[in-house]
Amino acid sequence: MSATSVIGLQWGDEAKGKIVDLLTAEHDVVVRYLGGNNAGHTVVADGETYKLSLLPAGILHPRVVSVIAAGVVINPKALLDEMDEIAQRRGPIGENLLISDRAHLIFPYHMREESVLENHRKDDAIGTTMRGIGTCYRDKAGRTHAIRMGDLIRPDCFRRRLTDVLEQKNAILTALEPGFQPFDFETLFDEYRGYAEKLERHVTDTTAYLHRALDGGKRLLFEGAQGSLLDIDHGTFPFVTSSNSSGCVVHSGSGVPERAIERMIGVVKAYTTRVGGGPFPTELDDEIGQHIRDVGREYGTVTGRPRRCGWFDAVAAGYAARLSGVDCLTVALLDVLSGLDEIKICEAYEIDGERTTDFPSHVDDLARAQPVYRSLSGWKADITTADSMADLPAETRTYLDTLSALVGSPVEIVSVGPDRRQTIFA
Ligand code: IMP
Repeated sequence: MSATSVIGLQWGDEAKGKIVDLLTAEHDVVVRYLGGNNAGHTVVADGETYKLSLLPAGILHPRVVSVIAAGVVINPKALLDEMDEIAQRRGPIGENLLISDRAHLIFPYHMREESVLENHRKDDAIGTTMRGIGTCYRDKAGRTHAIRMGDLIRPDCFRRRLTDVLEQKNAILTALEPGFQPFDFETLFDEYRGYAEKLERHVTDTTAYLHRALDGGKRLLFEGAQGSLLDIDHGTFPFVTSSNSSGCVVHSGSGVPERAIERMIGVVKAYTTRVGGGPFPTELDDEIGQHIRDVGREYGTVTGRPRRCGWFDAVAAGYAARLSGVDCLTVALLDVLSGLDEIKICEAYEIDGERTTDFPSHVDDLARAQPVYRSLSGWKADITTADSMADLPAETRTYLDTLSALVGSPVEIVSVGPDRRQTIFA
């Protein structure tokens, strides 16, 4: 058995897309197993930038099979738009895109409900991407209002399911939102059947496919989405996404057994970012934070929102690394820190006068956490052309060694720029 899993160890946007794209060369199948089009993966290939949201990064490699597995929630329009863009830029997508018939579907009422619920929270809004991801996962857990890809491709079944669901969704939204215009059944039915006709040839039992692939000795690569600190059970609840975005669910989201995963790679940025609400102990609300945002182009791939930026938080990343049991680290965007005189790493928190290296389980405690920093010398040299660890300035290597020791995992890959070539393997 040979499978690798790539997991973000912060609040998402750790540049996992680039690493997955690089590792794809040594794998046969790339699997997305959670989240939906709230995720944004930027990959630079052949000098061109691709922003992927639902499609696995494997889609840029014609030899590789890309799987959207059971744990993903799919907005079919968003998926088709993304497929069209890739087809226009790289040629038609063939049989090597497989979509699980077990994956749940997002409908326009999910977005409407999410917007009503988020606006209701006002001051403590989660800051969701408003893509209906949480409301779709909620319906999956509730079952009564859930519609899956396997239902959509069966016209009679889909008509039956949508009839039941839409009647109640229209009633709920009418009660929640003054002036709401109910969704018209036939219009929505026709729209979604149109999507079904385009997607049908890709829809299959991906779990069975992945089992056969493993039996046949194929190498699988699991592409995590979001980051571990956004995990619904283990993250900074309620300021989290609506699925398990740590390494805890690679198997439930894909149907592949845990013991198949041989290598778990944790990805961190050389600093920390966060989009949306919730506590962020190392946040920099000053010119250094703005400098990191400008140099790192820290604006959301999906929503365009400016990301909150701060120093590397080894308490948070260390916790995430232990959650997923990572074997090694990839440190991304290291070049963004070049030019700073001093660089800090948070090595502990002080909460109500007590020093701790445990990550608090309640957001109110995290909100009171004061970062205890270790201060390190910065470096002035341009590191974007370095191609070995030995090429990096001594200060940069000290920074990486300190980060690695505090997180408790070896650094094996370092990214010093967006291009595939700007990658150092330790
Ligand atoms: P949702 O996943 O749209 O419900 O958003 C919940 C929270 O997760 C918000 O703070 C989002 O900004 C955050 N989030 C969701 N997906 C991503 C991602 O791919 N990168 C970073 N943050 C994300």
